[in-house]
Amino acid sequence: MLLTIADVLTPEVTKACRMMLDSADWVDGKVTAGHQSAMAKQNSQVPEGSPVARQVGETILKALGRNPRFRSAALPLKVFPPLFNRYAGGQNFGTHVDNAIRTHSATGSRIRTDLSCTLFFSEPDEYDGGELSVEDTYGVHRVKLPAGSLVLYPSTSLHHVTPVTRGARVSSFFWLQSMVRSDERRTLLFDLDQSIQMLEPGGAAAVKLTGVYHNLLRQWVEM
Ligand code: NI
Repeated sequence: MLLTIADVLTPEVTKACRMMLDSADWVDGKVTAGHQSAMAKQNSQVPEGSPVARQVGETILKALGRNPRFRSAALPLKVFPPLFNRYAGGQNFGTHVDNAIRTHSATGSRIRTDLSCTLFFSEPDEYDGGELSVEDTYGVHRVKLPAGSLVLYPSTSLHHVTPVTRGARVSSFFWLQSMVRSDERRTLLFDLDQSIQMLEPGGAAAVKLTGVYHNLLRQWVEM
């Protein structure tokens, strides 16, 4: 399931984060790429663990922790600290699949990447190109969201970023390990949860289906 979540960050917070990112020291993006993807990747990144990356990263994770749509869709177990990239001057990222395992350089902790996230820090009219294209069995999805909004997609998907031919595209990207590994099961749980939200709160149907939700989660969760 590919899902977009609007307004993860308020416009004020998005702007403040963008100013911090613009003042950061950017380096060649190949530093976090695997062997295959290093060949396809052209962009700059804020160094992992730098003060700006840490501070903006924490702001993002706090906001996501409060976001019911994100929690329901991702069922996060472990989230990799957010990274930041910038594409400009024709830069792009060719088609690839993200590495299955990510090791945090400072702590050595590892996660299995079940879901990939991109949170946009540039408004769509600030740049041309720079679409995130994600392939699944339903075709190719092109994503370009307002600043402060996020897209979540299975890390198993082939994806690429088209060349940025005008302006700059600044975003955060990160991965998470979900409590439910299967995308199909996560999608069922998300649909069930969203449907329960439409029922009369406390009504007999809502109570019964909430029970079904938790009993399915109990069957499928890994921690
Ligand atoms: Ni990727």
